[in-house]
Amino acid sequence: MKKGFLISFEGGEGCGKSTQIKKFTQYLKEQGVDFLLTREPGGTELGEEIRNILLNYKGDISPLTEFFLFCVSRSKLINEVVKPALEEGKVVVMDRYFDSSIAYQGYAGGVDINKIIQTTKFVTDGVEPDLTFLLDLKTEVGMQRKQKDENLKNFDRIERKSLSFHEKVHDGYLEIAKKFPNRIVVIDASQSPDEVFNNIKEIYQKRIKK
Ligand SMILES: Nc1ncnc2c1ncn2[C@@H]1O[C@H](COP(=O)(O)OP(=O)(O)OP(=O)(O)O)[C@@H](O)[C@H]1O
Ligand SMILES: [Mg+2]
Repeated sequence: MKKGFLISFEGGEGCGKSTQIKKFTQYLKEQGVDFLLTREPGGTELGEEIRNILLNYKGDISPLTEFFLFCVSRSKLINEVVKPALEEGKVVVMDRYFDSSIAYQGYAGGVDINKIIQTTKFVTDGVEPDLTFLLDLKTEVGMQRKQKDENLKNFDRIERKSLSFHEKVHDGYLEIAKKFPNRIVVIDASQSPDEVFNNIKEIYQKRIKK
């Protein structure tokens, strides 16, 4: 029986997910909240091996095949790590979850959105975020942020896809937010990191914190 809370951070490349997650988990630590931080793809030993394939494989991978690779990583992570943590009452923080598949493989890659949603329910046993922060930022701005960062400027297989692909990801995310308005909160990610975080903290305090 689930007692904890699942919070996911979503958004296109360079929108500030990792930056905000760092601030958010620091805040949880200060509040003495028992939390687990994880990421997709990855988060388990098997998942990290799949992450390596997804981000570095040199040949072609179709969006559908890519989705199934995500499913393997996701199945392991959710069923063996996230679900038990939620059952223990932890706050679980995820750097990307299945909305990324809907945006990248679905809206941008052309895989049927409803099939992604149905398959994900099966793969995850219906484990959904209680709250999702969608960091909304113009595609070019996110890409420019990453170009400027020595640690992020060498783009991986998915990041290297065309600007039009990433624009479809961005527009897809906004469609997903419309589809799930109770779960997803759209945050203006063009503000300074502190301003973005203040918005996140306020929503967390209102929606989740008792
Ligand atoms: N609000 C902000 N304003 C300006 N620059 C920012 C802001 N937030 C993050 N950055 C910078 O932009 C770059 C990308 O940020 P970050 O790694 O947090 O994004 P991300 O969404 O996790 O990216 P990725 O898609 O690669 O995981 C970093 O260099 C970071 O310092
Ligand atoms: Mg990141």
